Amino acid sequence: MEQVDYDDSTFETFFSNPPAELAFDQLDLNRIPRHISCIMDGNGRWATARGLNRGEGHKAGIVALREIITACVRLGVDVLSAYAFSTENWKRPKQEVNLLMHLFAQTFVDELPLLKRENVRVVFLGDISALPKRTRDVFEFGLNETAHHTGMVLALAVNYGARAELTRAARLLAEDVAAGRLTSEHIDEQAVAGKLYTAGLPDPELIIRTSGELRLSNYLLWQAAYSEFYITSTYWPDFNRWELIDAILAFQGRDRRFGGLSKGREA
Ligand code: FPP
Repeated sequence: MEQVDYDDSTFETFFSNPPAELAFDQLDLNRIPRHISCIMDGNGRWATARGLNRGEGHKAGIVALREIITACVRLGVDVLSAYAFSTENWKRPKQEVNLLMHLFAQTFVDELPLLKRENVRVVFLGDISALPKRTRDVFEFGLNETAHHTGMVLALAVNYGARAELTRAARLLAEDVAAGRLTSEHIDEQAVAGKLYTAGLPDPELIIRTSGELRLSNYLLWQAAYSEFYITSTYWPDFNRWELIDAILAFQGRDRRFGGLSKGREA
């Protein structure tokens, strides 16, 4: 796997030489989204377009994720989440599923030093107990090794589906009621949010989807209630720090109303 030696860079060196067409000097570092989420789509098409097998696309996707993790750390993002494997992805050919599980484990082993050096705390969204033993073991090791970190949270959605997450939350709340720990009148939005995999994390302010698809694909249905979306036709392996900046610039240009009136339309 390609290893790019930029991890020790500062913000200035990491973001030096922006492309001329990018309005990098317009970036407001005081308004960086707290939580950025990526639906990493298009690895397969990226590979096919190059006459490679899909596995090569996933490997290139991991290199891209590494760059985005570093970029988000340098930008001071609190939470970066990424949709790596959905509850529906088990329907893919067995060979591709096996390769992905192998790559997840290998990537985690390879990247743990980076995550430690950058003070990143890893959490998983989804049911990782259903993963093959080696992948699960490596993930659990990584969870423990980074649990005390105080920097950015990297939330990896693996075996994640928003409907499954909400169903699980309903079940957990029902169990609390049955056990007398909670009464049904106390089930409010906060109680539901507290039973999601994202409990304790801010909702994503910006959701980026690559490869041009215009859907949420069962991702963070609850948490995305007020998220801003940035869709790019770029395939995930080609998504880089500059396109991330472009997405943040688009976010900073939006008028976020949360159901209220836009600025200038208040009475
Ligand atoms: C979507 O492309 C991508 C995936 C299903 C996997 C993405 C995973 C990573 C980049 C690595 C994550 C790393 C860890 C450690 C969890 P696709 O196969 O749907 O592409 P296509 O739509 O072009 O077929």
